[in-house]
Amino acid sequence: MRYAEVYGAWKADPEAFWMQAAEAIDWDVKPSKALWEEAAPLYEWYKDAQVNTCWNAVDRHVAAGRGEQVAIIYDSPVTGVKTSITYADLQDRVARLAGALRSKGLEMGDRVIIYMPMVPEALIAMLACARIGAIHSVVFGGFAASELAVRIDDATPKAIIAGSCGIEPGRIVEYKPLLDEAIEIAAHAPEFCVIFQRDQAQADLKPGRDFDWDELVKTAAPADCVPVPGDHPAYILYTSGTTGQPKGVVRPTAGHLVALNWTMKNIYNVDPGEVFWAASDVGWVVGHSYICYAPLIHGNTTVVFEGKPVGTPDAGTFWRVISEHNVKSFFTAPTAFRAVKRVDPKGELIKDYDLSCLETVYLAGERADPDTIEWMQDKLGVPIIDHWWQTETGYTIVGNPMGIEKLPVKIGSPTLPMPGYDVQILDEAGHPMPPGELGAIAVRLPLPPGTLPTLWNAEDRFRKSYLTTFPGYYETGDAGMIDEDGYLYIMARTDDVINVAGHRLSTGGMEEVLAAHPDVAECAVIGVTDELKGQLPMGFVCLNAGSEKTEDEVKSECIQLVRERIGPVAAFKVVCVVDRLPKTRSGKILRATMVKIADGAVFKMPATIDDPTILDEIAEALKKVGYPAD
Ligand code: COA
Ligand code: AMP
Repeated sequence: MRYAEVYGAWKADPEAFWMQAAEAIDWDVKPSKALWEEAAPLYEWYKDAQVNTCWNAVDRHVAAGRGEQVAIIYDSPVTGVKTSITYADLQDRVARLAGALRSKGLEMGDRVIIYMPMVPEALIAMLACARIGAIHSVVFGGFAASELAVRIDDATPKAIIAGSCGIEPGRIVEYKPLLDEAIEIAAHAPEFCVIFQRDQAQADLKPGRDFDWDELVKTAAPADCVPVPGDHPAYILYTSGTTGQPKGVVRPTAGHLVALNWTMKNIYNVDPGEVFWAASDVGWVVGHSYICYAPLIHGNTTVVFEGKPVGTPDAGTFWRVISEHNVKSFFTAPTAFRAVKRVDPKGELIKDYDLSCLETVYLAGERADPDTIEWMQDKLGVPIIDHWWQTETGYTIVGNPMGIEKLPVKIGSPTLPMPGYDVQILDEAGHPMPPGELGAIAVRLPLPPGTLPTLWNAEDRFRKSYLTTFPGYYETGDAGMIDEDGYLYIMARTDDVINVAGHRLSTGGMEEVLAAHPDVAECAVIGVTDELKGQLPMGFVCLNAGSEKTEDEVKSECIQLVRERIGPVAAFKVVCVVDRLPKTRSGKILRATMVKIADGAVFKMPATIDDPTILDEIAEALKKVGYPAD
């Protein structure tokens, strides 16, 4: 079947389509139907089924006689370690950790925060939770203690599993002091912590609360897989919204299994046994879906890479890993390739490796700029496939289904909607707009299996953030257009979310941090265009009258504060001190206009601006920090 037939088959009978896709999953109790719409506009999938994620990702492959196949390749240029773990080995390690967690009192439905670097133990921890029906929430290592604390208070975990350290080029990031600080700040206290000790930095353990991973699993009895209801949350993943309080995206178990399994062949065109590599981090949705769950559910070999695209040790690392491990499909964020291209513009290092195994490269997480796509096409000679998705959906909304049919690529567009997604461009009143016109990107409800049914502990916020603006639709928060051929173009976010090196961050969250500085009277944070990272945050602060600090002191304190409160991942390094911020007459800060000035783009004077002369002051301040860039 070709794409149009597959998409048409879904549209004609979504229930039949998703029940058929569900046949690829091992059920303890099969679902009687796919979609449950009694609580519309809240929807659920495969609600009356009983199933276990870990069984489907691990045990069933062993049961099918494929225990000796490699499940995980761990390649860590920052430590020099390369190992592989077979499915049989993985089953044993996961079952023993699950048994250890259970012996400490962890049960189905309990939450577990996982704060780990890119080591196979991160996946083992996720799978061990899934094995006993515990709900994990992985927190990215680049977040600061207070961000971890916010997540501890929201998820109220019974346990926290953490690595003793992460390794960033040139420095070791000790996770344990950050964890201790987070527990100190948080109102909720976990009952126990499991610490995976790494040679690079051994953590001090708090007696009675902290347990050594190796010690625990040594004596643990393996735990069996516990079947859970289809709508049981598999995990919570926090993502940035418009405020400092992150949104806890809930991932439902059964839909997640069915949908992710479907994507592996149809979108990524890999068969069981083949090697799939997503160079991301388990702290992000790409890491959840495509480092851990989807490749394992589908019986592929996944690569856990602990390194950077450049500098570990050089810009040839990607090519080495692809060639050494026989990677067929490779997925990363455009930023990673921009970093490689900047260091090795001629692609000289590519020539050192045999990349004949590589069939396709996939990009997502941020806008894929044409220059980078063209460079990759030219240097790699394989299809470069952009696809668009979000933490909320967990997999592709709009893409190019390489396992069904390679659709013509139009650079700048992630191509066409995948089955399950009826994507529309809406005007402010919620009316569909004609081809070529810019509007809000929305998806007609229900969203397909595996997408978020709600936000953790925040159903009201879920309704307000996604379902209220356009009744009958899911509001994506992205704006764009669809052309005459149905190709989607993503142009911008409609909220205060920015995308820094493929990492989703909230400017609102950063403003909350700056506003807490005692000398800051008022502030704004905007996302300016950056050649490498796509966007970078930039702060504007107005100082309180009578502040005794110099401007430079306040600036560096602001930078330090964002690093301490949000984390180094925010890459917040530029602050301008200004007397006033440009506003509308009703007092709304004109952030979009400030972005245009910083980017050197043409802009129309907002009709509602209170005092246009302030824009000259902003331009002046920007010039001092080198914006617009040449
Ligand atoms: N633990 C602790 N700190 C971390 C971290 C982690 N897991 N990950 C990143 N950081 C820190 C970095 O050390 C850096 O700190 P610094 O300000 O002291 O230098 C900061 O957070 C920003 O990190 P990063 O975004 O990685 O920027 P970089 O300048 O070090 O590297 C790239 C630039 C382009 C190489 C890098 O951003 C990259 O590899 N991007 C790929 C994007 C990606 O995988 N996105 C995931 C979604 S698909
Ligand atoms: P995250 O939830 O971190 O995956 O971020 C999702 C957001 O990243 C989307 O809402 C978009 O704004 C942006 N994004 C993801 N993929 C793409 C893409 N292929 N093209 C343009 N923007 C993208």
